[in-house]
Amino acid sequence: MDYQWYPGHMTKARRMMQENLSLIDLLIELTDARAPQSGRNPDIDAMANGKSRIIVLNKADLADSRATDAWKACYEKEGILTCAVDARKGSGVRQLKPLIDRACAEKLERNKRRGIVNRPVRAMIAGIPNVGKSTFINSFAGKAVAKTGDRPGVTKGKQWIRLNKNVELLDTPGILWPKFEDREAGMKLAILGSIRDEITDEGELAVWLLHYLTGAYPELLAERYGISAREPDPAEDPASVEDPAIGMLRQIALSRGCLKTGGEADLSKASRAVIDDFRSGRIGRITLERP
Ligand code: G4P
Repeated sequence: MDYQWYPGHMTKARRMMQENLSLIDLLIELTDARAPQSGRNPDIDAMANGKSRIIVLNKADLADSRATDAWKACYEKEGILTCAVDARKGSGVRQLKPLIDRACAEKLERNKRRGIVNRPVRAMIAGIPNVGKSTFINSFAGKAVAKTGDRPGVTKGKQWIRLNKNVELLDTPGILWPKFEDREAGMKLAILGSIRDEITDEGELAVWLLHYLTGAYPELLAERYGISAREPDPAEDPASVEDPAIGMLRQIALSRGCLKTGGEADLSKASRAVIDDFRSGRIGRITLERP
């Protein structure tokens, strides 16, 4: 990801979002099913105040399905319609149309009461970088739908995709900036690959992830790497006991042949391998946070 969130970029993204929000009735917020809350923009609730809302938990193929169900229930309790999808394969994407119809029903009804009958509801997809917005728009809107042209004076410079007779979708997604003030959220987003790897070092990410997996998914850890955390021996001097996650990284390095010249374990290389394994789903279906 090559986008850097300097304050100037953030201001520009915010201005674009505000401009787009003024054109739409329905905001479809895409977040990563593996860390739905960390992957949401902190300012979106205030910015989208009064708009109809849908949350799409994308990359559900990589997330723990029980956790995904729990997140869905949580957002629905807040009154936000929610669905889980795998935009890459297109599975679950069809659930969205009925949700859009539900979210828009009120708006269409209100328009009808005011005598506005031929005005479609306008929607926009938004999310932080790398959450899968382009993949999702392609999968959802597909090639079959015709793009409507510019409407001078009304939606200058904007292209809309007509989804059906009642709904149009803005063809370019809104880019939201991630949470920066919350270190834990930043760590999760870096592990997902949603913010630049350089912000936190790979060793720190891998150690965080191994700690998390030890607590939440020990069986997956054992299955992938054949390891488990070593319980500290009470007789040992606590100061000399190594962080169990570092011990695991060392074991992973040795068993995977991640070695420095001289045969010493290369922990940086092992860290990258663990993060790659996580991102590609090779460790298993994992969610980094619960409601
Ligand atoms: P963006 O517009 O929000 O920035 O994201 P984009 O669609 O470019 O997707 C970012 C990456 O996430 C892509 O992978 C894309 O294939 C992947 N992706 C999107 N949706 C899903 C999903 O539901 N499940 C899974 N497993 N992956 C998804 P990439 O490695 O950057 O590209 P590529 O290897 O697919 O070409």
